[in-house]
Amino acid sequence: MSKIPSRIAGYTVLRSLGSGVTGEVFLGHDAKEVRVAIKTCSPKISKKLDWAERCNDEVTHKNLIKYREIKFDSRYKYLFISDYLEVSAISWDLLKPVPYGDMIEVLLKVAKALEAMHKAGMHHGNVKPSNVLLRRRKGVFLPLLSDVGVAYLYDEKKFADEAVIRAVYPYLAPEILAQFHGRGEPEPVPPTARGDIYSFAAMVVETFCRRSPFLPRDEISFDGIMQLKKQQKYRIIIKNDPTTVLDIRRLNDLVRKSLDPEPTRRPSSMSSVVQELEACMDKGRAPALA
Ligand SMILES: Nc1ncnc2c1ncn2[C@@H]1O[C@H](COP(=O)(O)OP(=O)(O)OP(=O)(O)O)[C@@H](O)[C@H]1O
Ligand SMILES: [Mg+2]
Repeated sequence: MSKIPSRIAGYTVLRSLGSGVTGEVFLGHDAKEVRVAIKTCSPKISKKLDWAERCNDEVTHKNLIKYREIKFDSRYKYLFISDYLEVSAISWDLLKPVPYGDMIEVLLKVAKALEAMHKAGMHHGNVKPSNVLLRRRKGVFLPLLSDVGVAYLYDEKKFADEAVIRAVYPYLAPEILAQFHGRGEPEPVPPTARGDIYSFAAMVVETFCRRSPFLPRDEISFDGIMQLKKQQKYRIIIKNDPTTVLDIRRLNDLVRKSLDPEPTRRPSSMSSVVQELEACMDKGRAPALA
């Protein structure tokens, strides 16, 4: 972690909130003492900032983060400034007290935010638990999908770090991961709709199963992760919740189809994932996925 600066781009910096693949995120405030999160990106690859800006300007959805500013900075290159949210990333530990049906409601909201992006002709490219910030209001969890468009700014060389492999590889669709890994070309792999569908389903499984099914228990390696993706060994099991409205068989069918290593066998759009998730919420309403 780098030394914390006292100011960045006119904002007072209070402390670090953590760091991810692209850089560090700081808690700060503006001149009116309004708290902000300042995400810094120092990638060597920097061609696609326009994507993040376009997404921020053109897609408005209540479950998609809105940046106050996206700007260039001489020291950090790119800054993404958003409201500070007293939240944590989505996880089983956070959601376990809520009924399974409510858990799916939270994930459904994220799916709808992704659907809105896709309908506007844009893809996320980095859907994973740490990019879904959960805010709790009056006992209801409100998810916010964050880091929209930032995937394009990845520095490919950092993908050799084990910490980065853990944080990114389990969620990337195998066809995208295969392009990322070991590439000599410093050119980011463009996100796709079916890649986002895969990543979303990987997050659903992890949220229900407590850990990613695509993270080897022993040695973390590209080959080990790819092997797990091909084997598709996971199943969502719900215990001791006779009141659940969730059609678990149908949810497993959807997840399995979305995590198919062959992209053309996945659901064709985020809209069909949304519809299927809605149907999972209402047991007995419709027949299972063909
Ligand atoms: N608007 C925000 N309000 C509060 N905390 C935030 C906000 N944005 C990010 N954070 C926190 O900052 C930390 C670092 O986030 P960051 O996005 O850099 O990491 P990441 O999601 O793990 O990786 P990636 O770079 O792939 O998105 C996380 O703990 C996240 O919860
Ligand atoms: Mg993030």
